[in-house]
Order: sequence, then structure tokens, then C-alpha cells
Amino acid sequence: MRVLGVNAVFHDPAVALVVDGRIVAATEEERFSRRKHGKPCVPFSTWELPEEAARWALEYAGVQPDQLDAIAYSYDPDLAPAHDGELHENEYEALRTYFVRRAPSFMASALPGLDVANVRYVPHHIAHAASAYLAGPYRDCAVMVMDGRGEQTSYLAGVVRGGRLEVLRRVALPHSLGLRYEELTMHLGFARSSDEYKVMALASYGTPRWLREIRATMTHDGDGGFVALPLDLAAFVPPRRPDEPFSAAHADLAASVQAALQATMLDLARWLYERTRMDALVLAGGVALNVVANSYLAERGPFAHVWVQPAAGDSGTALGAALYVARELGDAVEPMHSAALGREWSEAEIQAQLDVANVAYTRPPDIAAAVADVIAREGIVAWFQGRSEFGPRALGHRSLLANPRRTETLERVNDVKGREQFRPVAPMTLLEAAPLMFDGPFPSPYMLFVHHVRPGWKERLQAVVHVDGTARVQTVDRNEQPLVAHMLDEVGRLTGAPVVVNTSLNTAGRPMVDSPRDALECFGSAPLDALAIGPFLLRREVVRRSAASLRSA
Ligand SMILES: [Fe+2]
Repeated sequence: MRVLGVNAVFHDPAVALVVDGRIVAATEEERFSRRKHGKPCVPFSTWELPEEAARWALEYAGVQPDQLDAIAYSYDPDLAPAHDGELHENEYEALRTYFVRRAPSFMASALPGLDVANVRYVPHHIAHAASAYLAGPYRDCAVMVMDGRGEQTSYLAGVVRGGRLEVLRRVALPHSLGLRYEELTMHLGFARSSDEYKVMALASYGTPRWLREIRATMTHDGDGGFVALPLDLAAFVPPRRPDEPFSAAHADLAASVQAALQATMLDLARWLYERTRMDALVLAGGVALNVVANSYLAERGPFAHVWVQPAAGDSGTALGAALYVARELGDAVEPMHSAALGREWSEAEIQAQLDVANVAYTRPPDIAAAVADVIAREGIVAWFQGRSEFGPRALGHRSLLANPRRTETLERVNDVKGREQFRPVAPMTLLEAAPLMFDGPFPSPYMLFVHHVRPGWKERLQAVVHVDGTARVQTVDRNEQPLVAHMLDEVGRLTGAPVVVNTSLNTAGRPMVDSPRDALECFGSAPLDALAIGPFLLRREVVRRSAASLRSA
């Protein structure tokens, strides 16, 4: 069966193509359109579909639109709030539902030949859940979905046996952990549905001095769900304008809501464990991108294993919906083995792009060793190798790499990316070396947990240790990422530790680099020392020398 999963309803429009139960491609529209998150999260944009991503995925797999057995759309209009036809009812909820019902014909005009009768609506939280229990490594597990909202709910808890989901609990709007965190994000002067990870970083600078007050409005309901009552954040700290500096009170408010979220999630997990007695818990939904909360759950929760879908936000519902429908149609579905499910270019294609751009480049005998040399000399390297990542994290395919030894490197990386200095960058290391430097659990291939840095290593890894003594580690398995592993080996040989700073290859406010052209634009506009693209190496020295000679002239 050929199933195209589509997420389009709120934000992060994305597609996933599953052929005979195997994930062939998954990517987000923002990587093509170069609009971060694809579109604004408003009902007026619900008609916009991930058209470019869909065209690429079909072409990549050699599938024509009329060969699709199903199109799985990750929102069910029959579950959406009822309305009396008034457009403004429930903040234009009717408009969203209208566009969702029209999606099959919009899709057929974007992909001529596609049969509108093959479009199936998958409930939003079922799609999130499937992205964790079908894409994850466990056939039997408990599952929790936490996000801002689906059709009318914000939470799903269930148990999976033999790959079949039984829903045990849902929580209906307006109660929502995700929306609460989004409100906090906006209150602190950041972009909601986008900058929540900045709030999480800010939280570690604060003390949760308002935890008790916030827990009074945000707590377990005693029956596997939670309440999240309206909360006047201005009663604690006035809203921050985006151009205003941060105060300790902002960090304290972030810390208080973060702590309340963690405590609520732990209560939910304990209830779910009592009901299911499963060893493993899988998570999806935007709240599961909160790596600090995930780690709290993994450390203190009752489950022996916690696995998080790397595209835990709404883009992942494209994958979940496709896997869910493929299974419904009788295919045995395979779990995901890697997040590298996006576009790739051959050496010849990359070289043609470099020649068109008329830039100087070399082809070193060993690109990984050449990059390690730049890193060991405190250079910052753009690393473009293989297929791009599905989901928000760079995992060694579209990454910025640097030496983690000195704090100055963190400052320079944040300057290069144009991001706030309070935000940490993450280390990437070999799976077998990780336990020397960091506390478990390992493997951690998708950077979805934080790890305590082991004694004696904080000084050696200054750039990647956050203010709370943790680091968001990505472990690299030699068999899965041999080129990255080789680069880490070479860094280890030169610096004494096979570990690098790894952050996404983009600058502030832009989607991650996807194509060679994006990589060249990023390299041309940001003060990077080198770009390693396929087997080719571009260096910045030429520009620096000519600038110096201009000054001396
Ligand atoms: Fe969602």
C-alpha cells in the first residue's frame, strides 16, 4: 500500500510517505518554502497544504498521485466543535473545519490525478499517538499525547498491545498543558507555538517560587487527566515586550510553570503505569519536545523506558497518520530507524551547485578528518551530509559543529546564529563514549532528554553545559552514522574527547538548511569558518585575508 500522510491543520505542515509499511520519506513544508513553521497557526491558513513537500516525496519514491492507495489527513472534521454556520463562532473554528472538509479537493488540485475518495481523516491525537507507538521501538507500551489542542482535546493516554491502541483517557479543552505553556511563552515576549524551547532554557535560570500558586490551577484530576484552569500570569510578572531585557522574575515565572508542568506529567504517568503496568512509555505531541520535562519523567517516573517521537510536534502527525492508515489497510508497519527522511543530493548535483555559485572549494581526501581539523582549531563548521532530518532537531545531517571546550565557542555559535546568549547548545558524541562524560539513559539518538555532566567534564565541555549542569546529548551509533562517527573519532584524536557542539544549520528565525543552495546562502551570510557539503570543503580564510588586506591598504 502507498499512503501519503499529511499534516496541515494548525502549523508545521508536513508529509510522510509510507510504502508497504516502510517509511520512505518524511519532510516539512518549511524546508521547501523557507517560511519557518510553514504557515501561521490561524484558521485562515488551514487551506494551505504541504504541496512542495508532497510533490518531492512522491517523486523521490517514484509514486504518481493516482497510485496512492490512501491520503491520511491528521485531523478529523467530524470530531471538531459543532457550530451553527456562523464564521466568527468560537474564534473562526467554523472556518478551520470548512477548510479541512475541502482539503481533499485542494489536494487534488495540487497533485493532479489524486483520487479525493482516497482521503481519510485520522483524529489528530490518534495520529500523534501512532507516531510514537508505530514509529517507536515497542509493540507493547503505554502512550501519552500532550499538545496545545487537537479537534477538541489536548491529551490522550492509552495502552498499546500488539500494535493496537486502547484509549484510556482524554482531556477536553479548554484544559491544555500545551496552551498553558504557549500563553507563558507569549507572556515572556516570545513567539507562541514556536519559541517554547526558549522558555524552557530560561526556566533553568530561575527558581520556582510560584509553584504552589500555579499548581493550584494546573494539577492531576485524580482520574488520569488534569485540570488547567485560567491563570493570570500578569499577577506574577507584567508581560515582557520582545525588546525588553529579562529579569530574574521572568526566569522565576518560567521555572514555576515548568515545575508545575513536570509535576503534572509525573502524576499522569504514575496513573497510566498503575493502569497498564507496561515497561515502556512513548510520547508525542508538542509538549514532548520539552526535553527537561521528558528527562524528569524518565528519571522519576515509573516506566523503565521512555521513548519520544523526534518529530513530536504537529509535523509528526503526518507520519503517524500515514502509519496508522497503512496498518488499517493491512500492512505490517516498520518502526523508524532514523530521522534522516528528507531530501538528499548526489555528489554530482552538489558539485554542479558549487560551480554555478562560482565559489572556491576543495575535495579533501577525508572530509571528516578535514572538518575535525577545523573544529580542533576552534572553527565553526556547517556540516551538510546525506538526507535532511525530519523534525526540529539537527542530528548530524544539517548541523553546525564546533569544539565544546570553551564558553567563548558558545557565545560565537550564538552570535553566528543570531540567538539569545542564555540558550544552550548541545553536545554530540559517540554512543560508546557518552557514559564517560554524561549520565544516562543511552542511547539518545534524537536529543530528546537532558543528561547530567559527569564530574571532571564540566570544565572540558564548557560550551555545552547548561547553567543547571546538564547537557542535551545526541549519541551517534557507528553503524547508523559512519561518517559522523569517523569525524568524532578524528576530533577525539586531536582534542582528547570525541565530542562536538551540534546545533541546527540555520540562522535565527529561519528554517533549517535543506538544499545545497540553502547551505551556500547560510555560509555566505553567516561568519562560518567552513562548509562541508558532501565530500567538498569551502573555507572562509580567503574572505578574512582580503578584509585584512583592505584595512591595511
Ligand atoms: Fe498536535
